This record gives sequence, structure tokens and C-alpha cells, in this order.
Amino acid sequence: MAPTPLIATPQLLELLQGLHAQSTTQESSLKWGTLPAQCSDEFDTLMRDKFIALDQDKCELVYHLLRSINAKTVVEAGTSFGVSTIYLALAVAQNLARDGDGQGRVIATEKEPSKASQAQANWARAGSEIEGVIDLRVGDLRDTLTRDLGVVDFVLLDIWTPLALPALKLVQPHLRRGAIIMTDNTLKAGAGYEDLFAYIDAEGSGFRRITLPYEGGLDMIVYQ
Ligand SMILES: C[S@@+](CC[C@H](N)C(=O)[O-])C[C@H]1O[C@@H](n2cnc3c(N)ncnc32)[C@H](O)[C@@H]1O
Repeated sequence: MAPTPLIATPQLLELLQGLHAQSTTQESSLKWGTLPAQCSDEFDTLMRDKFIALDQDKCELVYHLLRSINAKTVVEAGTSFGVSTIYLALAVAQNLARDGDGQGRVIATEKEPSKASQAQANWARAGSEIEGVIDLRVGDLRDTLTRDLGVVDFVLLDIWTPLALPALKLVQPHLRRGAIIMTDNTLKAGAGYEDLFAYIDAEGSGFRRITLPYEGGLDMIVYQ
């Protein structure tokens, strides 16, 4: 069995396995090339009951990075049913416990109220350690990320591609030097990220990135 970086109870690991399995089953029935444009009403309607969770190996990498950089303030753009949020919250809670420091949170954002409710139910199953560090903001992230972010250590951009750059621009003034931003499906959905990557790759942007060889491509961006 492959090693996992997670420090978690068997119950939590089992919960995560089950959530990932549900997400994978749902996604396997989607025909991505034939879907309506991201951010259209039709697309949002179709996705209202879908997890579209970040793959398990990517979630584990994200958790590992958060433990490594001792991240305590994290922004998640796109929460859905809260699967990746569990990894973010576990890492933040463990970083806070390691330092004996009570200041920290995962700012989770979800536009669809029904998805946000399901996320809260999943976090309740994950336990109070997880629930206690999540600041859930329900609504359009272009509104909910305009206030009270603090100094941000890590951003998970797991959102429809047209929203990735607007989300990054809202968080950018709050990033600490060395902050990490992860973005999913950067090869598979590369056309959707053209504006984000033009911004990141521009001379003097303050960002550098590498595309990691995960399924569909996973970009790791560092704010220099
Ligand atoms: C790819 S899913 C997130 C998956 C989640 N990170 C996980 O791993 O479980 C993207 C989510 O972003 C949400 N979303 C779309 N537009 C949004 C907006 N304008 N503001 C906030 N959330 C939005 C969608 O409803 C969807 O649930």
C-alpha cells in the first residue's frame, strides 16, 4: 500500500475514501467534452449535485505541503461538498496544535447553498477538529473574498476556470511571501486557464509556477 502523509484516525480515512469514491463514480458518467460552458447557468445546474472533488492523491499532496509550510490561513476557492476542505482543515488544525497557537482557519467558499449544506454535514462527520477551523462563506466568491482574509499562506484554486484569475486577484494583496497556490487540471483544461497563466507568467508578476505530472496537470504557483 502506498504511504499516506495524513495523520488521521481510521474513521476519518474511511470517510475520505468513501467521499472520493462517490466523486469518482459521478465524474466517470460525465462527458467533459460535451458539457455547457463553465459558469453558464446550464453548467451550474448540471454540477449542483456533483462533487467534482480534487483527486485523492492531489489532496494528499496539498495536505503535505500545508504541513511543510506550516500554513495557518488558507483560502479555498470552490468547496463543493467539502472533500478537499477536510484535508486543508486537518492540516491547519494540526499546524495550530503543533505550535500551541489558536489563530488560523480555512476560508471555504461555495456559491450553491445546497452544496454548502452538504459540505457542513460532511465536516460534522469528519469531527470537531475539522469543523472548528473552517470559515464557510456561502455566495459568489467575487463577493465573499473581498473581506477579512488575514495573511494567507495557501490558496486552493479548485474552481471553474473563468473564476481562477478573479479569485487570485482578490487574494493576492493578502498573500505572504512564499505562499503557495495550487490549481487543478491545468493541462486538461489548459485553454480555460490562458488568462491566469498570462498573468502569472508575465515579467515581474511576483509569481513562479511549475506543472506537476498529476492526472490532467496540477500547477503549483509560488508567490515570490
Ligand atoms: C471543482 S468544485 C470544488 C471541489 C472541492 N474543492 C473538492 O475538492 O471537494 C468547484 C465548486 O465551485 C463552486 N462555484 C462555482 N462558481 C462559484 C462562485 N462564483 N463562487 C463560489 N463558488 C463557486 C461550484 O458550485 C463547485 O461546487
